[in-house]
Amino acid sequence: MNEAIKDEAERKQVTVLFADVSGSMDLAEQEDPEEWRAIMQRFFSTLADTVTRFEGTVDKFTGDGIMAVFGAPVAHEDHAQRACYAALQMLEDVAEYAGGLRRERGLNFSTRIGINSGEVVAGAIDGGGGSSYTAIGHTVGLAQRMEALAEPGKAYLTETTAELARGYLDLRDLGEFEIKGASRPVHVFELAGVGEARSRLDLARERGFSSFVGREAELARLDHALARAKEGEATAVGVVAEPGIGKSRLYLEFAQRCRAEGLEIFEAQAQAHGKSIPFMPILQMLRSFYGITDQDAEQLAREKIAGRSLLIDPVFAADLPLIFDFLGVPDPERPVPKMNPEGRGRALGDFLCRLVSNPARKKVLVLIVEDLHWIDEGSQMMLNGLVEGMEGTPTLVLVNYRPEYTPAWAESGVYEAIELQPLTPADTAQLLRDLAGEDPSLDGIDEPIHARTGGNPFFIEEIVRELAESGFLLGERGAYRLARPIEDAGVPVTVQAVLAARIDRLDHISKQLLQVASVVGKEMSVEALRLTARLGEVEIEEAIAQLIGSGFLYEAEIYPQRLLAFRHPLTREVAYGTQLASQREATHAAAARAMIELEPPDRHDELAALIADHLKQGGETLEAARWSARAAHWAGHSRPRDAMRLWHEVMELAGQLEENEETDALGIASRLAQIQFAWRVGMDLDEQAQLLREAEKIADRRGDLHSLVLLKMSTSARPGLQQHTDEWIQQVEEMNELADQAGDPHLQVAIRAAGAYAYLVAGDFDGYDRALDEMIGLTGGDIRVGSGIILNTPLAWAHMGKGMVRREQGDLEGAEPYFERALEISTEADDPETASWIRSNQAGLLAMRGDVEGALSIARRNCELTQRIGDVFSRSLAIANLAWAELAAEEFREALASIEEADKIYREAMKVGGEMEGWRSQIRAKALTGVGRVDEAIEEAEWAVKVSRERGLNWSLPIAQLALGQALHAGGREKEALGVLDEACCVAERTNALTCVAEIEAERDALASAAG
Ligand SMILES: Nc1ncnc2c1ncn2[C@@H]1O[C@H](COP(=O)(O)OP(=O)(O)O)[C@@H](O)[C@H]1O
Ligand SMILES: [Mg+2]
Repeated sequence: MNEAIKDEAERKQVTVLFADVSGSMDLAEQEDPEEWRAIMQRFFSTLADTVTRFEGTVDKFTGDGIMAVFGAPVAHEDHAQRACYAALQMLEDVAEYAGGLRRERGLNFSTRIGINSGEVVAGAIDGGGGSSYTAIGHTVGLAQRMEALAEPGKAYLTETTAELARGYLDLRDLGEFEIKGASRPVHVFELAGVGEARSRLDLARERGFSSFVGREAELARLDHALARAKEGEATAVGVVAEPGIGKSRLYLEFAQRCRAEGLEIFEAQAQAHGKSIPFMPILQMLRSFYGITDQDAEQLAREKIAGRSLLIDPVFAADLPLIFDFLGVPDPERPVPKMNPEGRGRALGDFLCRLVSNPARKKVLVLIVEDLHWIDEGSQMMLNGLVEGMEGTPTLVLVNYRPEYTPAWAESGVYEAIELQPLTPADTAQLLRDLAGEDPSLDGIDEPIHARTGGNPFFIEEIVRELAESGFLLGERGAYRLARPIEDAGVPVTVQAVLAARIDRLDHISKQLLQVASVVGKEMSVEALRLTARLGEVEIEEAIAQLIGSGFLYEAEIYPQRLLAFRHPLTREVAYGTQLASQREATHAAAARAMIELEPPDRHDELAALIADHLKQGGETLEAARWSARAAHWAGHSRPRDAMRLWHEVMELAGQLEENEETDALGIASRLAQIQFAWRVGMDLDEQAQLLREAEKIADRRGDLHSLVLLKMSTSARPGLQQHTDEWIQQVEEMNELADQAGDPHLQVAIRAAGAYAYLVAGDFDGYDRALDEMIGLTGGDIRVGSGIILNTPLAWAHMGKGMVRREQGDLEGAEPYFERALEISTEADDPETASWIRSNQAGLLAMRGDVEGALSIARRNCELTQRIGDVFSRSLAIANLAWAELAAEEFREALASIEEADKIYREAMKVGGEMEGWRSQIRAKALTGVGRVDEAIEEAEWAVKVSRERGLNWSLPIAQLALGQALHAGGREKEALGVLDEACCVAERTNALTCVAEIEAERDALASAAG
């Protein structure tokens, strides 16, 4: 078996109880040691028996007391209640024995109990002389402190236990106490007795029920069964479902309807710790049938019993002594003959049967027995007898239970089962509206909560409560608003307890397999599971069958491969959380190896991020860094945000490793890549500067010229720097030289491609064209040369650039084929980023050619496609080009909205306007003119002209001047307009921007004809 699942220790949610017999030290002196030992022995066995009775584990004897754990090794969903019930019982038993000792020997004994709940690590500890099971953790220490704090004869518990036991037990608030070893004061409670609540639903009632949703079909079936019972056709219905799905609530709603109709209903409830209290549910039922309360005096109770029984049929007179006795009100005048427990059980069962099936009974009887899976044997036998004998009477027996139980009468003709399903997504949404409210901030929580809880209403309620308690939701029940995203919210301890108890009922191997599965993923192939768990085929098939049968996993797919998935994400979280960190680590590493082994190499790129994550969690840092780098490469330029995140991860992982050639290389590559993504998606300037410094330091140490050139390029010659184009171009030329010195054609091409952009922005179209030609020459036509270093596909970019030169220089016809070719190359290279830029420019070209519809359609589609890439640079560009197309279509309002959006997203991410700010600004000016906001248009255009001039952005300068001319014209300032246009014309002629010149002339003509 896998070493990962050898250590049997687990993390568990438990309740720890300490009990000691106080004052024992000075008492020891008064007694003969032998006597003393016998007395203590008796105390210990009293305490230990009680622990066992409530299915706890005696962890150890402490010298003058015991430590007990409830909820380990086998989890109990009611561990806190069990511990409290046990404590009450201990106090009572000890008081009784101590009372005797006081009377008979004058000795004073009392016990103190301390209780606390929380996580422990439970498992075998080898102390040299063989191993023993024990629980370890802060939770244990705090329980002991509670014991030390408790007054003699009292049990104290912490707020954590109180939270779980509240309602079921009566607690007295003692306030907060400073406790040694606890970082903050602990709220302490005294255990005062048994509480009112018997079930979760009682608790829910106290808190106020959530409004009832769905379940129409189930209620209809119950109505139908009732109708049959009324006809004298006795019927038994069983509602079957996992805990929390709403079995009890369904009956509650149904019972209310019945009561409204005036029907009599008698209810009983089996309890988790109830197997040790025989006949409890039957007792409850009979008490409610006879209408007896705890306050009734014995005589009154007997009268009620006799009255009702005899009213049905005088023959029951003979049974009365037995019933009195059974219900705890024996008649001193008519004692019951001695019987063994079995005989007694039979006699009672027989009575019950006759009572129900008595032909004299005319009224419909509705009996509800809840949670049959917990019923004790005696009650079960009685119930079986009752159902067998009820035929032909107006009786409706309603029971419910969990899927692991099957009632004896499952095959009987009078019985029908209703498998209660989880809530539908719509029902969940409705329940959430009731619990959380309808604040807009809550939009979108329905789906994740439904997925996380699998539509289990109890889990939904608890999660909402937990979210409110831990500050994810603010406000009040039914009127919350979301304060932060809910993804990282924990699993409520109440839900954990239920799920852990279910998991612990599995076979050993199935349970371990479930834990392995929880590490592998929420979905996994059987093969991956087998390899990770290192189990044999037969073993694993058996375990899988059990896990599927008991609803933990389901077959998500059987072809082409068998995939298993968790039915319930919370189960996965709990199964994951119960494992020791060391064990999880080994399983993660094994899962990664299984994945690498099983998956065909051509899927490795796609799975690299997942494999890396397993490796990281498995503590294999170097492998994790390598696989993350692979994943980052793969995400590359089609998912820049993912790539950025993955490179960051590589950097962190490499940073944890010893310095060597490989880790240095990873350290540089990861930083360089992040810097490359900075101008695409934005990054804090300080963070960028730090990345540069760190990368430079490593590159210097390594003498890595290649990386140093790229780093220098990033500091001095990348887009988004607010420098003058003269300076930019000078830097680019230096970079080209450095790259040539390094002598790597990839680097030369990468640097030239990126640097060429400076000429375009400076309006030096010929320089741009030359740089591109030189670069194309260096690639030798190979699209891979220099790709992915700065730009994804330099060759595609070069063709686009040449198209732009044609477009700007008036050769609109000649531009198109370049764009077409560029698109082909980018498609071949699978490069959506460059494709986005090309389409942006194509839209502009069509706008210039007057094909307004074509321009709009390409621009819109481009926005849609670019959105998927997820970066800012391309998206801003695509939206700005849409604005351009909208201008051409004279959709000025739309154009204004688009350009403002484009500018906003750029500035928000980059904190500056970048090299395109003058260009975006002139579009905004034109749009403002279009919508008639002329003053603003003039101001905007003046600004566009100003920045373009100041920073040598000569590509946008004449266009901005044209925009200003148009705005002035619209404002009736023709003369000034003419002056600006003349200037624009000079600039455009100087840069040979002939398309622009033509536009300026057209505007001048318009102005002249308006004046003339
Ligand atoms: N249909 C429903 N609509 C609203 N709340 C529900 C519904 N069903 C169950 N609940 C709530 O979910 C919680 C668990 O239900 P419960 O009936 O106690 O589950 P079960 O008996 O199956 O363990 C209760 O608080 C109950 O009020
Ligand atoms: Mg229930």
